[in-house]
Amino acid sequence: IKFFNREICVCAHLTQTRHAQKACAEMRGSMEQTQIDDALCRRLIAAALEARKRSYAPYSHYHVGAALWTQSGKLYTGCNIENAAYTPTNCAERTAFFTAVAAGERQFLAIAIAGSPAEIDENGGRKIGKLTQAAWPCGVCRQVMAEFCDPENFQIILAESEEKYKTFLLKELLPLSFGGNLL
Ligand code: THU
Repeated sequence: IKFFNREICVCAHLTQTRHAQKACAEMRGSMEQTQIDDALCRRLIAAALEARKRSYAPYSHYHVGAALWTQSGKLYTGCNIENAAYTPTNCAERTAFFTAVAAGERQFLAIAIAGSPAEIDENGGRKIGKLTQAAWPCGVCRQVMAEFCDPENFQIILAESEEKYKTFLLKELLPLSFGGNLL
């Protein structure tokens, strides 16, 4: 049915017949969003900013959130998770990828990244605060993206502030990459 100009699927809630469930799944399938338009970019950035609030970065005080969009229309988020031994630190992008892959996902269309340093608060302490600049994904995260994503189509959305963003294709940020095809 149409509700405020958006199609919503209610049949699964009304009946449990297998026929209705199948029709509903087909309907959902046809509604999956594979076009990375401005509205989806902003939705992914909002999710990345939410994930950034959970960033654990007591050493660098650089807080990052990421939101990964799958081919099947699902969203997985991640934040950076630091460690006192430094090298076990995981970036927000890899947290999102590994969470999604562990949940059974293998096909991805886009990732939004929101990262910038903590703010100094009124008492001279630190708080995660607002996003003030774009975080370019590190080389290791770009390589993880290359493992699962089509470099010609996978979009990397870099939030510069809560309103502004820029997008790149994976092939632009990781040209001439190493991959399983070379092994
Ligand atoms: N970091 C990310 O999570 N993603 C990036 O794109 C760049 C760097 C994290 C790792 C570390 O916790 C902190 O930011 C500073 O390098």
